[in-house]
Amino acid sequence: MKAIRIHEFGGPEVLKYEDIPDPQPGPGEIRIKIIAAGVNPMDWKIRRGYISSLPLPMIMGLDVAGTVDIVGKGEVSFKPGDEVFAKVGIGKGGYAEYTVARAAEMARKPESIGFVESAAIPTAGLAAWQSLFDLAGLEKGQSVLIHGAAGGVGTFAVQFAKWKGAYVIGTASEKNAEFLKSIGVDEVIDYKNQRFEDLVGNLDVVLDTIGGDTFERSWGVLKPGGFLVTTVASIPEGEPEKRGVRAKSLMTQSDGKELAQIASIIDERKIKPIVATVLPMADAQKAHEMSEALHTRGKIVLRVREDS
Ligand SMILES: NC(=O)c1ccc[n+]([C@@H]2O[C@H](COP(=O)([O-])OP(=O)(O)OC[C@H]3O[C@@H](n4cnc5c(N)ncnc54)[C@H](OP(=O)(O)O)[C@@H]3O)[C@@H](O)[C@H]2O)c1
Repeated sequence: MKAIRIHEFGGPEVLKYEDIPDPQPGPGEIRIKIIAAGVNPMDWKIRRGYISSLPLPMIMGLDVAGTVDIVGKGEVSFKPGDEVFAKVGIGKGGYAEYTVARAAEMARKPESIGFVESAAIPTAGLAAWQSLFDLAGLEKGQSVLIHGAAGGVGTFAVQFAKWKGAYVIGTASEKNAEFLKSIGVDEVIDYKNQRFEDLVGNLDVVLDTIGGDTFERSWGVLKPGGFLVTTVASIPEGEPEKRGVRAKSLMTQSDGKELAQIASIIDERKIKPIVATVLPMADAQKAHEMSEALHTRGKIVLRVREDS
């Protein structure tokens, strides 16, 4: 099969478009014929070698959408031909014509959207869902500030929070203000010209996808007992207690049941994946360059086969 692999860590030039053997599903595994693969910042962080002890060569990518091709012995949840999407393990491969996954990592894709949009969901959608609901416990009527609201995680988080009935404030640059209002943000803060802590406070939840100074300044806008959840920073020991709030750093988990919940909300037309750029898989280098520029709106998706 064709796949994008790395043989060494480094810049986008280490991404190689190659022919490699098709993966074979073991007992309890499912082979997916991939039609589209989502791109995440995690992909270029892995490519750069930011995660230690990963074996090389490695197929890139975590998010896939496609059809079930072969079902391994003992697996009964899916059958050949099912249209699915999944967040697969590191190195299993998303930027490839086939991958293998476990039933627990996948779900039937939303019926109302195509494979390209479905491939945009897994990592960013699960990160937003797990941050807001599993960790912070966001509820109807609460307020949430979402940093990086126009990005992959942010565009899902905004829509999930609105679906839940929360009041949503989002930070982005001015060029994204109208777009963010169109997907449900109640208040947009232009982070380049405004300081969010001058404009909002006493919030129930902050979701930080930016880190650094943005993370540091976020403690002060929470109400007592409020929740700071971050996808990028580590929480200093004792800091939440000192501030009288709660805080957690997210480690997104593959979760087929949550993917199925997200798919059903999409099919109810309550939310939709935002895909800004679609490129052929062979252009993975370009996709990584775009993602590393840190200003993606929504998601970048690689088209693996033309039948999507
Ligand atoms: N821990 C986990 O399990 C987990 C899971 C998923 C993602 N992550 C991490 O979370 C981060 C976000 O992921 P993502 O997929 O959402 O990234 P992304 O799509 O690349 O985010 C790009 C967005 O960030 C915005 N942005 C850049 N600087 C900003 C700032 N200072 N303030 C507010 N917005 C800013 C940009 O908006 P403008 O163009 O308007 O500037 C752009 O829309 C990444 O570092 C990723 O690795 C972690």
